[in-house]
Amino acid sequence: MSDLTTDILSASSEGYEAAKTIWSAGGLVAFPTETVYGLGADARNDKAVAGIYEAKGRPSFNPLIVHIADIEMAQRYVEWSDLAQNLASAFWPGPLTLVLPLKAGASISKLVTAGLPTLAVRVPAHPIARALLTHFDGPVAAPSANPSGRISPTLAEHVSAGLSGRIDAILDGGACEVGLESTIVGLSQEPTLLRPGGVPQSAIEQALGTEISQHTQADPLVAPGQMSSHYAPKVPVRLNADIAKDGETLLGFGNVASALNLSKSADLREAAANLFGHLHKLDQSDAKAIAVSPIPMVGLGVAINDRLKRAAAPRDSEN
Ligand code: TXA
Ligand code: MG
Repeated sequence: MSDLTTDILSASSEGYEAAKTIWSAGGLVAFPTETVYGLGADARNDKAVAGIYEAKGRPSFNPLIVHIADIEMAQRYVEWSDLAQNLASAFWPGPLTLVLPLKAGASISKLVTAGLPTLAVRVPAHPIARALLTHFDGPVAAPSANPSGRISPTLAEHVSAGLSGRIDAILDGGACEVGLESTIVGLSQEPTLLRPGGVPQSAIEQALGTEISQHTQADPLVAPGQMSSHYAPKVPVRLNADIAKDGETLLGFGNVASALNLSKSADLREAAANLFGHLHKLDQSDAKAIAVSPIPMVGLGVAINDRLKRAAAPRDSEN
C-alpha cells in the first residue's frame, strides 16, 4: 500500500462522487467529522476494512465505529431500543457513539466488530460527513485517521502527514469543531460509559433521566481497544504541571505564560477543539518534553484528561 498516491478531494459533488467510487471499489478515504478525521472504508467489505488496519499499522483487530447517515440506516444494522431512540434523538447527529446488539444477518464485516455480538454506530454532525454518507448510502467503518498510537487528526494536513501514500484520498473539510472523539455509550446491557468524549456524561445522564455506570478496565471485552498509551507525541508528556521545568515546553490552560495555550479563558470547549492540533504542533516542534497545565475534571474536561493521560502513558501498548 505504500506506493499509493493520496488524492486530496474537495467538499463538492465531484469530491463526494470520487469518494464514493473509491469506497465502492474497496479503497480508503479519510474524511472530516465534527470530532476528528476518520479513515473510512465500506464496512461490508472485509478487504477494505483490513486495509484500514494495514494503513494505520494497528497491531490488533479492535472493533471499529460504523458511521451512517441517519437513525433509519442504523436500524438496518443494530437491534434498536427505546434507550437508543432516546439518546439518538437527543444527540444525533453528533459526537455520540452507541454500542448495540448487532442485528442477525447484518452485512457488516467481522473485522469491524472484531467478532463481538455488538456494533458501534454513530451519525456524525459535520455537514461534509453527512453529505458524504448520504451520497454513499452505506455503512462506513472509520477509526481516527492517524497512524496507530499517534495523535488524532483535526486537520486534513494532520492526516496527510501521518498517512499520505498509504490511503487513496483525503477529503479536506478544514478544522474539526469538537476536536475530541465521540463519547461511547454501551447499551447492549445496562447503559455504560465506555469512553468519555465530545458529549459530557452529565448530558447523557440528563437525557436518560438516570446515572450511568463507568466501564472498568476489569472487563476488557466490553470496551476493547481502550489501550493505555495512545495520542502519543514523540517526546515525554508530564501532566498537572503548574510551571514548565528546565527543558520542558508548557502546553497551558487558563491565564498562564506558555508556548501554546489550550484556552487562555479556561473554556473547556475551546480547549477540546485545540487539544490534538496543539499536540501536533508541539510534536513537530523541537520541544524535548511537554508539560501540561491542570485541566478541571468537569464536563469536557473529563475527556480531555482521559486523552492527556493516554498521551503521557508509557509507550508499551498501542491502539
Ligand atoms: O469520534 C469518533 O468516535 C472518531 C470519528 C472518526 O468518528 N472515531 C474513533 O474511532 O474514535 P476509534 O477506532 O479511534 O475508536 C473506536 C473505539 C474503539 O477503541 C473501541 O473500544 C470502541 O470504539 N468500540 C467499537 N466497537 C465496539 C463494540 N462493539 N463494543 C465496544 N466498544 C467498541
Ligand atoms: Mg483513535
